Amino acid sequence: MSKRLSKEALAEAGAGDKVTLIDHATGKQLELPVMGGTDGPKVIDIRTLYRETGYFTYDPGYTSTGSCASDLTFIDGEKGILRHRGYPIEQLAEKSDFVEVCHLLLYGELPTKAEREEFERDITYHTMLHEQLQYFYRGFRRDAHPMAIMVGVVGALSAFYHDTTDIFDREKRRTATHQLIAKMPTIAAMAYKYSIGQPFIYPRNDLGYAGNFLNMTFSVPSEEYKVSPVLARAMDQIFMLHADHEQNASTSTVRIAGSSLANPFACIAAGIASLWGPSHGGANEAVLNMLREIGSKDRIGEFIKRAKDKDDPFRLMGFGHRVYKNYDPRAGVLRKAAHEVLAELGKEDEPLLELAIELERIALEDDYFVDKKLFPNVDFYSGITLNAMGFPSSMFTVLFAVARTVGWVAQWKEMIKDEALKIGRPRQLYTGPAERDYVPMAKRK
Ligand code: ACO
Repeated sequence: MSKRLSKEALAEAGAGDKVTLIDHATGKQLELPVMGGTDGPKVIDIRTLYRETGYFTYDPGYTSTGSCASDLTFIDGEKGILRHRGYPIEQLAEKSDFVEVCHLLLYGELPTKAEREEFERDITYHTMLHEQLQYFYRGFRRDAHPMAIMVGVVGALSAFYHDTTDIFDREKRRTATHQLIAKMPTIAAMAYKYSIGQPFIYPRNDLGYAGNFLNMTFSVPSEEYKVSPVLARAMDQIFMLHADHEQNASTSTVRIAGSSLANPFACIAAGIASLWGPSHGGANEAVLNMLREIGSKDRIGEFIKRAKDKDDPFRLMGFGHRVYKNYDPRAGVLRKAAHEVLAELGKEDEPLLELAIELERIALEDDYFVDKKLFPNVDFYSGITLNAMGFPSSMFTVLFAVARTVGWVAQWKEMIKDEALKIGRPRQLYTGPAERDYVPMAKRK
């Protein structure tokens, strides 16, 4: 059951639990209701705090702040759990596919056969881009980073599809969300093709979501390109594993942008900009670089030693996570996918994979990593897999953006429908100068 931040839901969720805040200076007391969700820690509803006490809370990085109620995704970092609408990610990655996960995130349930057909048809028929958009691409420098192109082109979609920017119209919202999921692979593949000077490849309706993306990325008009089912499945799994991850930086960016009632294309462009940062979407590239630097198994000990040394800034890339203090469930799936992809490509003895497995084994037996609960994260194996598939590292974050688009639009849609929607507007602790009088130029020192 959804528990929105409405008064009714609050009364129900609080079920009488309260915490009392005492200001010892004044003796004033404030009772704050406690809310409980379906799973996870309880939260204290502090919405009346400022009005009743004149205090704000201080929480840079929002490590103790719940910014919304959401039905989409549940994470328990201590136990290494990730579920979408209740379904464990491991089950989805093994038994489902990306299109089905999109339906699940957007509409709350796995689709029936008829719903699946209708949804897939709708997504397939929205994959083409307005022809005029090609000219927009041609305005970028050839050496532009594909993420820079993504931010620009996705932002520009609101200029090309302004008939679906009315966020108060349910049907238009639905069309815009389907358009974004459908067009993102085309936009990403075109960004890549442009950067290497190859002709754009149009989408093909006879291919699945991931297969179509591989075809648009790797085929050329002069040769037949056969999409390998193994690689298409691996790509699809990578999309599934990155589809949503509750209120991370880019998703929170999308929500904040959308809370001003901006159109969805503009909001998703904001999300892509946030994802681009190296603290968010860029770690799989760093893993690849690190493995190349380590070079051989006999040097692992040396790098483990460096990672543990407080005076050395080196960290084991692909290890540790702000939320997961256990094995990131996505890393296990990706480890298997890496083996399958390399076997399909005849690269079973890829030294980087062997090195990664050995590094993981040694680190997981080391007291430092055990005590600090540092486990492999989603980025540990994805770089190796994507690299073997032929993607340059500049495309890794782009692929993340393609996959995460469904999470962003599902969270945006959930927010727009929320009766308790308020414009996102955090407060601050002001630390600048106190009031002072204007100083004329002649008297300034
Ligand atoms: N290697 C060595 N030591 C580490 C590592 C690591 N990868 N990660 C954390 N530690 C140590 C820290 O030095 C710290 O030690 P201390 O308690 O003695 O000071 C302790 O473990 C806790 O680390 P924090 O930095 O407080 O953990 P936080 O949750 O803030 O950071 C982060 C998480 C940024 C992911 C960190 O683990 C890291 O830098 N990992 C490597 C980069 C990486 O793989 N990022 C991808 C994350 S997944 C994603 O974003 C999709």
